[in-house]
Amino acid sequence: MTPIVVAGWGGALPPTVVTNHDLERTLDTTDDWIVERTGIHQRRTGSTVGSLSIEAGAAALQRAGIDPSTVDLLVLATMTPDQAMPATSASVHGALGLGGGAFDLNAACSGFVYGLFAAFSMLRSGAVRRVLLIGSDVMTSIVDPDDRATAVLFGNGAGALLLEGLPDDPTGGWSESGPVSHGAGIRMVDGDNFMGWNFGVDAQARHLLEADTGGTITMEGREVYRRAVRATVDSAGAALKDAGLTPSDIDLFVPHQANRRIIEAVAERLGIPIDRTVMNVQTTGNTSAASIPLALAEAADSGQVSEGDTVLVSGFGAGMTWASTVFRWETSPAIPPIAKEPA
Ligand code: ACO
Repeated sequence: MTPIVVAGWGGALPPTVVTNHDLERTLDTTDDWIVERTGIHQRRTGSTVGSLSIEAGAAALQRAGIDPSTVDLLVLATMTPDQAMPATSASVHGALGLGGGAFDLNAACSGFVYGLFAAFSMLRSGAVRRVLLIGSDVMTSIVDPDDRATAVLFGNGAGALLLEGLPDDPTGGWSESGPVSHGAGIRMVDGDNFMGWNFGVDAQARHLLEADTGGTITMEGREVYRRAVRATVDSAGAALKDAGLTPSDIDLFVPHQANRRIIEAVAERLGIPIDRTVMNVQTTGNTSAASIPLALAEAADSGQVSEGDTVLVSGFGAGMTWASTVFRWETSPAIPPIAKEPA
């Protein structure tokens, strides 16, 4: 198996903050209602999927310290592309000066985890060596600002991971000091660190959460809530089983950031302590495909995730789709270690 390392990560949020108190001025809602039902205090608005993706992708490339033209593939998970055609990934690819190909992927809020599975699989096959995976959405572009049931929930952002496959054969043109092509130090990772996965879709439930082309989101919130908890628990459990692990083996759980109550219910049902569960929905709202990579990037920046940690990521969204992956967080030694924050 080709071991895969995280060579870089990055996040981007538009500068304009919309607080619950801002929404109180335009909607029949209150800060108390929003915080109690969702845990969200603020979200970001503005920007485009293209520009947020470029910012997050550039941060990941810079952290990795590699020549962008050595990236073989860009996968951009989004359901709010800048236009129908060409794919938004094409302009992001050009702006970042990447090599290889690029495509968009739409699995709604599960998109990043679907992308992770696709990237891992392609890297593991040896077909590509470097994949830049970005999750990016501008959810405010498809939310009716006058609909209090949805307008309070969503926000805009992007997160990126640069993944690198290491050759099985340590002598295959690579050395402890790194591949000749770019000179970054590469540590050989022992064994397969892409450990388990699960994904699926229930198209019968697609009407629960939809937006027609050019339209705005309609959602049966209570039913989506119920199914989101069930799908995430089942999917995460199946990925753990696939990996031959139990919840107690998980160092960090990174669920889709849709709602604090959903995250807490899922963590409790899985038996993963809340202090090993990443939560940033309070400051971002639901950023759809961006939510998991943004949370991961924040966890990596703060030292909440560190070398060798076993990470479980789980998403759910329109479709209804779900996806979970378990992997070991291994980074390229070109990335300086980050000290853990004091408890
Ligand atoms: N402010 C004040 N009152 C509100 C608001 C608001 N923003 N929105 C709804 N209400 C009212 C409703 O009208 C209802 O009033 P009623 O009792 O007079 O009819 C009351 O609050 C309760 O409404 P519910 O919908 O039953 O409230 P619930 O506790 O289910 O919370 C929520 C609503 C937060 C939307 C919840 O159902 C939820 O989180 N669902 C999942 C949403 C989600 O995660 N969607 C995205 C999933 S996938 C993706 O990311 C694309």
